[in-house]
Amino acid sequence: MDACVPTADRDKQERLAVKICSTDQTRSDGLAAADAPPAGDELVTLAVTLMQSRQTILPKHLVAPGPDDGQLALLLQAAASAPDHGRLLPWRFVVVPQSARTRLAEVFGAALLERDPAATATQVEQAREKAHRAPLLLLAVVDAQCGDPAIDLHERTVSAGCAIQNLLLMATALGFGSALTSGKALRSAGLRALFGLNAAEVALCFISVGSVLTRKPARLRPAPSDFVSRLPDADASP
Ligand SMILES: Cc1cc2nc3c(=O)[nH]c(=O)nc-3n(C[C@H](O)[C@H](O)[C@H](O)COP(=O)(O)O)c2cc1C
Repeated sequence: MDACVPTADRDKQERLAVKICSTDQTRSDGLAAADAPPAGDELVTLAVTLMQSRQTILPKHLVAPGPDDGQLALLLQAAASAPDHGRLLPWRFVVVPQSARTRLAEVFGAALLERDPAATATQVEQAREKAHRAPLLLLAVVDAQCGDPAIDLHERTVSAGCAIQNLLLMATALGFGSALTSGKALRSAGLRALFGLNAAEVALCFISVGSVLTRKPARLRPAPSDFVSRLPDADASP
């Protein structure tokens, strides 16, 4: 288990997260209150620390205990804070409880054999085993069609990505490790059937959350200069 976040600290983090999430934001007209968010150096430090401490911990390194029911509620509430053009709620998450992991394992094994009928028994077993990793496993799904058709799949997927990142950051705040995983099985008919996806839905990725068994040093992050450019000023010659 990760020694970085002692239980007492984890309890403190959880109380803070509960406080933030349970703030009554409902006005008499039923709309969310538009209070200015708290700002200041402390919050900036908190945000930077939180964002920089999130790193992928692969599912094989995520062990029990996973989030309890209260912590799972916090993860999902965090997802709900994502920007969502047109308020379509174009994404959803499906929790895969331990009792359903064997069915998911069957889907992973079958998807591999469908793609590669020559796969060995060992390869099929490796594919199946992935369904049993991490105490909390969710599938993230985006809907390409619900609501306003002018809001295309790109926008919907950005919203889903924001929801996923919020969830990952809350997992980090609670002291858990997390990972996103994809793979060709996401597009298999068996997986689509197991998760009851309709024709307009796309399975985006799995989200794994749990206690960290081992972690690698965080990867070097790109510098803003690696991904930022600037339009020339209006008076600059072409
Ligand atoms: C949609 C999505 C799917 C991903 N799928 C996988 C995967 O199948 N296997 C894997 O090892 N990492 C996967 N990753 C994680 C990335 O590899 C990881 O974020 C990257 O290496 C950067 O590491 P960091 O998250 O620690 O910054 C995925 C990430 C995203 C956004």
